[in-house]
Amino acid sequence: MMSTGWNWFVIIVTLANILACWWLIVWATKNKANESKEGDVTGHVWDEDLQELNNPLPRWWLYLFYFTIIFGLGYLALYPGLGNFKGLLSWTGVSQYNEEAREVHEAQKALFAPLAKLSTEELIKNEQALLTGSRLFAANCAACHGSDARGARGFPNLTDDDWLYAGDYDSLVTTITYGRTGVMPAWQSALNDDGVQEVTAFVRQLSGQQADPQLAAKGEARYNMYCVACHGPGGEGNPAMGAPNLANNIWLYGGSEAAIAHSISVGRMGNMPAQKDFLTEERIRLIAAYVSSLAK
Ligand code: HEC
Ligand code: HEC
Repeated sequence: MMSTGWNWFVIIVTLANILACWWLIVWATKNKANESKEGDVTGHVWDEDLQELNNPLPRWWLYLFYFTIIFGLGYLALYPGLGNFKGLLSWTGVSQYNEEAREVHEAQKALFAPLAKLSTEELIKNEQALLTGSRLFAANCAACHGSDARGARGFPNLTDDDWLYAGDYDSLVTTITYGRTGVMPAWQSALNDDGVQEVTAFVRQLSGQQADPQLAAKGEARYNMYCVACHGPGGEGNPAMGAPNLANNIWLYGGSEAAIAHSISVGRMGNMPAQKDFLTEERIRLIAAYVSSLAK
């Protein structure tokens, strides 16, 4: 919305311009064109015999000019353009967008409706559902999990059978709908440098990697004190809180000594954003069906 002063300024300048165009064309046709006839010359001559003609403006050109003026006035009457005047059609970009979005939504409803009727067992086997799910995945999930769903550092691979939480269809629906946050506390102040080094050696040993056995033995005692509650006695992890399996040599943040020591000393907090505000329940079902078909 413009202030009243600007509103009138815009209206007056716009209309004055159109009126000036009208006046110009009327003036040009009355005074000049009527006096001159086809073939009249202006008296200007170049290169001995090249003369400038003073023909009247062609009719079609004049009509075109009148037409643009009438078109302009008609447009300003129907659509917004004159200051704060909304136009007789009350058209706005937002209302057009909403209308088009509604049409797209209706069209998609027709696509999703037959799939929405399927039971979970039917859905995870339905080719059309999996195809639609893969497209929805590409649009909504691939930015973080990769277009092949293999993830990246900090973003879990969804195609292996190793899950932080769980990979069955219902758990996937929960993960996608409400999101997940894995909270791994920072241990630097409790363990100090030595302690972090020892427990790192133990985690390396647990996962079948090379580690100093003496350091690992000391680390085991600390592991049983501080880590076992979440990661389990054998390092098998805990899906209830998304604590990763530390024994299978599949890593969310990396399995090198440096990466493990970093996870332990400063902690980790991976966040899977909730999708319930962006995706309808039908869509979440289709994506969950697609993801559950990936891990084989
Ligand atoms: C309160 C539960 C909890 C405790 C206690 C805990 N962790 Fe974790 N840990 C987690 C969670 C949850 C994650 C996953 C973090 C994420 O998703 O970002 C994790 C991640 C890790 C990772 C990274 C794994 C990967 O795949 O990259 C390592 C290594 C790790 N923890 C080691 C330890 C060690 C060693 C201790 C004991 C000193 C410990 N954790 C104590 C919950 C815990
Ligand atoms: C902004 C980045 C981001 C987007 C977008 C995102 N995710 Fe995630 N997702 C994550 C992160 C990070 C985690 C790990 C959470 C943790 O560490 O606890 C995760 C975890 C998951 C998990 C749990 C994996 C396991 O091992 O249990 C699933 C399943 C999942 N995401 C599916 C999806 C799907 C499907 C979509 C699209 C609808 C999606 N994600 C969109 C970042 C994202």
